Amino acid sequence: MGRMMTRPLPKSFHVKSFGCQMNVYDGARMAELMEAQGMREASADTAELVLLNTCHIREKAAEKVYSDIGRIARRDGGKPMIAVAGCVAQAEGAEVARRARAVDLVVGPQAYHNLPALIADAAAGRIAVDTDMPAASKFDALPGRRARGPSAFLTVQEGCDKFCTYCVVPYTRGAEVSRPWGAIVDEAKALIDGGAREVTLLGQNVNAWTGTDAQGRVQGLDGLIRVLAEMPGLARIRYTTSHPNDMADGLIAAHGDVEKLMPFLHLPVQAGSDRILKAMNRQHDVASYLRLIERVRAVRPDIAISGDYIVGFPGETDAEFEETLAVVRAIGHAQAFSFKYSPRAGTPAATMEDQVPAEVMDERLQRLQALLGEQQLAFNANTVGRTCDVLIERDGKLPGQRLGKSPWLQSVLIDGGAIGDLATVTIASAGPQSLIGVAPARVAA
Ligand code: 5AD
Ligand code: SF4
Repeated sequence: MGRMMTRPLPKSFHVKSFGCQMNVYDGARMAELMEAQGMREASADTAELVLLNTCHIREKAAEKVYSDIGRIARRDGGKPMIAVAGCVAQAEGAEVARRARAVDLVVGPQAYHNLPALIADAAAGRIAVDTDMPAASKFDALPGRRARGPSAFLTVQEGCDKFCTYCVVPYTRGAEVSRPWGAIVDEAKALIDGGAREVTLLGQNVNAWTGTDAQGRVQGLDGLIRVLAEMPGLARIRYTTSHPNDMADGLIAAHGDVEKLMPFLHLPVQAGSDRILKAMNRQHDVASYLRLIERVRAVRPDIAISGDYIVGFPGETDAEFEETLAVVRAIGHAQAFSFKYSPRAGTPAATMEDQVPAEVMDERLQRLQALLGEQQLAFNANTVGRTCDVLIERDGKLPGQRLGKSPWLQSVLIDGGAIGDLATVTIASAGPQSLIGVAPARVAA
């Protein structure tokens, strides 16, 4: 099949990542790989290769790819080579190129180390598709890491064995795999040498990470965190996303005694009704989740709790949705993400009876988001007057203004300071999305 036209190899690229932080990480690694091939990064309007690193988690995200492809194909300055990567590529494979004729290359999340060969194929006029999930790690075939700022992502684990009935991840990202200890430690060193002050460990089930340390001992995520915390130059460690059932005692303890581990935990509960959790195949109930939160708070009382919620899972009644609101009230979130249930082909929930009507989902989502918004503002307001460190990540909108993150992952605007600095500030005021930080002396005066 294919468009027979050949063309020169693209000399420039642009990567656009959608969806989760693992895609952001993969996008950065694909960029590094193309740079190592001598290609340079360019804008979406001028790049000779535009790569869409896609998300398949909900229908809206997956469908967006096709409108984007159309827009890129029609851009001023002519159609670039178009590559589709990420989870839509994995889920739909060659079908992507059949459905969108403008697509030249399709590469899945476990195959992107083959990008140079695929680009060459596409340039030779063959439609290049690679969605293999090889046993060997793609990471070994990638060039070394370079930090692109003070805060860096580091994927330590991929895939998921949990099979929640609504979720495509076990199909698009495959089975749970932990990267080896040595590879992670080396990558962390390279990131720190390149200027990273903060590392966020990533995995679909990051707290299921397991490996063998340099002394041959089996370690969990907490062991890895403790070793990273010894690295000079690294100031902050975060991790995401976690499953409640993999919240080991050691990891909870680490929140109490590892100073560099930031007081933030993204721990999705998804719903507040035990019947719905069962239908979701979450393998935990509401009470066990709340007990976990209590234990984490016992060792780290100020910890910011984040989460994910799905409203309108098939069969969810009004009363069951009220239970979700009650759980949110019981937790008190610093922030959380919430979504309307989106049926995904191939998942068990897609064919369940009693799919919830769109208007009901809309109304539930609105109510949930109103409550989460209130909680976020309350959490932010509660930090006013506190003195904390802010890791300065980039320039703000106003001249001289900088934007950084508090330990609780809030965005903080401050005057002055250099990118990469840890600035000690006092929080002077709080809005729903960001805080204002000032030098402590100015508050004391
Ligand atoms: N519909 C809606 N939300 C979903 N999520 C995963 N699958 C679906 C789906 N089919 C949400 C879950 C998960 C987050 C990343 O996306 O809340 O934690
Ligand atoms: Fe999806 Fe559940 Fe795995 Fe999370 S734990 S990636 S929601 S299947």
